[in-house]
Amino acid sequence: MKPLNKVIINKDTSFNPIWIMRQAGRYLPEFREIRKNNPNFIDLCLNDTLSSEITLQPLKRFDFDAAIIFSDILMLPYGLGQKVEFEKKFGPKLGELNLNEISNIDEIDFVEKVHRVYKAIKKVSSNPDLNDKNIIGFVGAPWTLLVYMINQKSPKNNLKKDFFNDNFLINRILLIIEKFLKVHIKNQVDNGANIIQIFDSWSGLLEEKDLPNYVYTPTLSLVNFVKSLNIPVICFPREIKNYKEFCDIVQPDAVNIDYNVDPKKILKDIKIPVQGGLDPKILLTDYENLKKEANKYLEIFKDHPYIFNLGHGILPETNPEMVENLIKIVKDFK
Ligand code: CP3
Repeated sequence: MKPLNKVIINKDTSFNPIWIMRQAGRYLPEFREIRKNNPNFIDLCLNDTLSSEITLQPLKRFDFDAAIIFSDILMLPYGLGQKVEFEKKFGPKLGELNLNEISNIDEIDFVEKVHRVYKAIKKVSSNPDLNDKNIIGFVGAPWTLLVYMINQKSPKNNLKKDFFNDNFLINRILLIIEKFLKVHIKNQVDNGANIIQIFDSWSGLLEEKDLPNYVYTPTLSLVNFVKSLNIPVICFPREIKNYKEFCDIVQPDAVNIDYNVDPKKILKDIKIPVQGGLDPKILLTDYENLKKEANKYLEIFKDHPYIFNLGHGILPETNPEMVENLIKIVKDFK
């Protein structure tokens, strides 16, 4: 059985597997080297030779328990024909969203645009060195994708003023997103992804009254879809105020927590396996502090099925040596 499945399915508490969000990325010099010669990020994700190589980079260096495929949640709007670019120091920049255009896209058009992501997953999952590792496929949650598609850039702390003006439009787009997320998930699984993580990076922007329509209902539909494929699903409803309510309604197989929540409260409230929590900024401090902070999570969750991870993606300025240290701390704990 793969390490994450032991925890998620068997509720094994005898060890804590570890992987980290954005483990394939800018803190690794070998990634920056490839990135330097590939200024177009989407093209890089669609270059299956390079994207499979980048996926493997952190596993060559470190004893992680899972590979997460090098791609992006914004491959979905890209596959729907919306322009997606990444600008240095600005982040994602999306083109105008045209409802008529995205309404006319069919599954074949979509898969044709993004199929190289699946080809990369196939390459990674057929690598015998990864036999005892999980291969994590992922998608953005419908709400977070809706935010990027309408807002056309990261919302930081607030959405465009007229974001909710056209309810009809929003609900149509949500349904299209949900439909193609299922296509995207199915193709990742068919090519060897054996866990799916759903990133809802902007769930914290919503008021409580809007959560059922924009977060709970569409995410539940995806969670049920992943379960129908017999694959575990991890949800990350970042900065949501009520993780318990989210878990009670959406019922993922495991939940990733952000670094602003109190892990003791999570332990009390949540029965399903937990992942993550450590503030990525801790990796910018020193060994002693890292050990203290990592041990806090390991102690709190010592009798609870727990996958070690961060409370958000690793920061580009992180020294890879600190990642090495973290893995050792986690592996030596039990
Ligand atoms: O290693 C991994 O975790 C797998 C690959 C992965 C990437 N993005 C690669 C990436 C994953 C799982 C994501 C998820 C993602 N992408 C999310 C959800 C998680 C989160 O961060 O909240 C979101 C919101 C995105 C959208 C996105 N992609 C943003 C906002 C940015 C720019 C911000 C930044 O960090 O500069 C990206 C670019 C991106 N995606 C990079 C990587 C490695 C940086 C690309 C680069 O400039 O080299």
